[in-house]
Amino acid sequence: MSTLTDSAAWLALKSHQQTMAHAGITQLFEADPQRFANFSLRVDGMLLDYSKNLVNHDSMQLLAQLARERGLGERMRELFRGGKVNATENRAALHTALRGEQPVLVDGVDVMPQVRATLERMQIFSDGVRAGSISGHGGRRYSDVIHIGIGGSNLGPLLATQALAPYAAGGPRVHFVSNIDMAAVQRTLAPLDAAGTLVIVVSKTFSTIETLANARTVRDWLTRAVGDTAGRQFVAITANTQRAVEFGISEENIFPFWDWVGGRYSLWSAVGLPVALACGMPAFRDLLRGAHEMDEHFRNSASEKSMPVLLAMLGIWYNNFFGAATQAILPYDESLALLPAYLQQLDMESSGKRVGTDGADIDCDSGMIIWGAAGTDAQHSFFQLLHQGTRLVPADFIAVCQPHHTGEEHHAILMANFFAQTAALMNGAAIAATAQECFPGNRPSNSLLIDRLTPRSLGLLLALYEHKVFVQNVIWGINPFDQPGVELGKKLATRILPDLDNNAPANGYDDSTNGLIDFYKANRDTRYRERGPQ
Ligand code: F6P
Repeated sequence: MSTLTDSAAWLALKSHQQTMAHAGITQLFEADPQRFANFSLRVDGMLLDYSKNLVNHDSMQLLAQLARERGLGERMRELFRGGKVNATENRAALHTALRGEQPVLVDGVDVMPQVRATLERMQIFSDGVRAGSISGHGGRRYSDVIHIGIGGSNLGPLLATQALAPYAAGGPRVHFVSNIDMAAVQRTLAPLDAAGTLVIVVSKTFSTIETLANARTVRDWLTRAVGDTAGRQFVAITANTQRAVEFGISEENIFPFWDWVGGRYSLWSAVGLPVALACGMPAFRDLLRGAHEMDEHFRNSASEKSMPVLLAMLGIWYNNFFGAATQAILPYDESLALLPAYLQQLDMESSGKRVGTDGADIDCDSGMIIWGAAGTDAQHSFFQLLHQGTRLVPADFIAVCQPHHTGEEHHAILMANFFAQTAALMNGAAIAATAQECFPGNRPSNSLLIDRLTPRSLGLLLALYEHKVFVQNVIWGINPFDQPGVELGKKLATRILPDLDNNAPANGYDDSTNGLIDFYKANRDTRYRERGPQ
């Protein structure tokens, strides 16, 4: 018997949903003229408007009660104090310590001195690169950086450097290589001057085959260009220093992070070095500051006034009580175009599990499918389904009040669409007599308005979603900090790889996989076939 779906709070919500399923959001506004004020929250220049949801005060109280019944308060304190919240790997999850100030003990040792030491090394290194005192071949100033990494070793720095591009002055251009597809690294290397290129290899395990293959290709490229000193232009960021040294990167060029930092939670570690290189270390420290401010908000706010808890519990409401399978992330800001991709990994790699921390299958839906795109492009892609489709798709709309550009007219049009879409989804309309032109409305959304996209507010935003994911996993009783599900595919790929190194018919797999491999072998590059196995 599940303690979750048989709990008083869960059953109360299940009953309450019967009522709210027939509620109209517009009627909820009519019933409460102060609804916007009562269902919105401000934290440090960020406004969350959750009034356009299928909830009333009872809903929010019942959701808060569920969070209390699931022990959210104690789980949160355990997270911040370095408890082994990542039970399957017997680790803490201390991304909060990376941006914290107070001592935090892991196995009895305060981790903050090494956190601060690494920040100091990042400061010295990024200052040196930006000043030219740390340079490339023949004293060439570093004009470009190649960041090689994938998943959490890519998405965070990629998003942050794109979002903070207006702050990138006086530093090198940063290029990201993640996919093993040779096209990715070839496209990156083509325009670069090797002598002035710094290479950063980022891998927590330093065993991810895509990253190591890309690193070898870039090392060959660099060696061909500058000779044996190529290694001087390599830096590694990893929790496995030994493997980085074995790869050939000198220890003084290795920035460590630790096993108590999850890959998808690692932007706040040395993994975020590209932000310091492109925008300066003060910008990276501001990013940390913003995330820390969200940490403090999360730690010190009652559920009903906690932005992460509100986002999390609204997601639980639609996921577990209305059967919504997906959550749309819709940034109305080109600088945040990669936010859906970043949140996909953060959320789906944390919450996409079926077994709880007690080792038993959970008996409710867990992680939602996170997807989305930047507005207004998204309006010309999938908004038809959002407005007139048959599915309930809760959506987070995110926008910035003050853009960095001076295109006032452009921004006004963008913001007019931002405001219009959530209103139209909620209010609907019967534009004409035909059924096809009827907009049912009553489609819920959250609106997040940020005063200005700065390193600090970006830190606030990303930490908000980190804690939202954490809260949802507390409710479901899942460990959000491991990712066993990514191993099976990797292992099978490692087994298939040598079978591609010949032209023999495949026969070691299921009939489909054998057939696919045979078709590939019959149609791949004939130069390879004539050349035969390497
Ligand atoms: O996707 C699986 C995963 O382990 C992610 O959790 C991680 O961010 C990514 O691969 C890269 O791992 P690493 O940083 O060890 O190369």
